[in-house]
Amino acid sequence: MPGAARGVSKAFDRVIAGADDAMWIATTVAEGRRAGCLVGFGTQASIEPRRFLACLSTANHTYTVACSAQHLAVHLLSSESLALAQLFGAETGSEIDKFEHCEWREGPHSLPILAGAAGWFTGEILRRDDFGDHVGFLLAPTSAQPPDPGHAPLRFHEVGALTPGHRP
Ligand SMILES: Cc1cc2nc3c(=O)[nH]c(=O)nc-3n(C[C@H](O)[C@H](O)[C@H](O)COP(=O)(O)O)c2cc1C
Repeated sequence: MPGAARGVSKAFDRVIAGADDAMWIATTVAEGRRAGCLVGFGTQASIEPRRFLACLSTANHTYTVACSAQHLAVHLLSSESLALAQLFGAETGSEIDKFEHCEWREGPHSLPILAGAAGWFTGEILRRDDFGDHVGFLLAPTSAQPPDPGHAPLRFHEVGALTPGHRP
């Protein structure tokens, strides 16, 4: 990458870090395989109809499973969910079964729902769009469990130092 472009990328990264986005965990299941990873690239994308965009790295085990899935579960995290964020952000399903190391139950569409999450929703995958090293999964919500009032989300600055289980 030329020097000027590298400079823009570094400054861009600092702008994005300055937003200190909320962190999510996306889980999915397909053909009997469960998967899930920490997701920072997640955002509501439409109000009416309600839509959410979750972007998965093509390097991730979760992406591989999500390619055959019809639904994702998206979990809202809080500061108490730090251990969960470490498990799903710094370990890979290519090497361990993350679901042997946390509490979960089978929820709507047979999706794994994490007990340590502050809230969650499930969504039908409407489309997948190639954005580069991440693919956007556009979701239509099918069920949701809101957080308790006063909940404070887990934010990027609390997990930004983690080494991702799979490098993009
Ligand atoms: C702060 C942070 C944010 C991340 N955001 C994303 C993301 O938006 N999408 C994604 O696919 N991976 C993201 N990752 C990386 C995955 O969570 C990580 O590589 C995970 O270990 C992949 O697990 P898997 O191979 O079992 O899917 C992020 C990791 C960290 C530490």
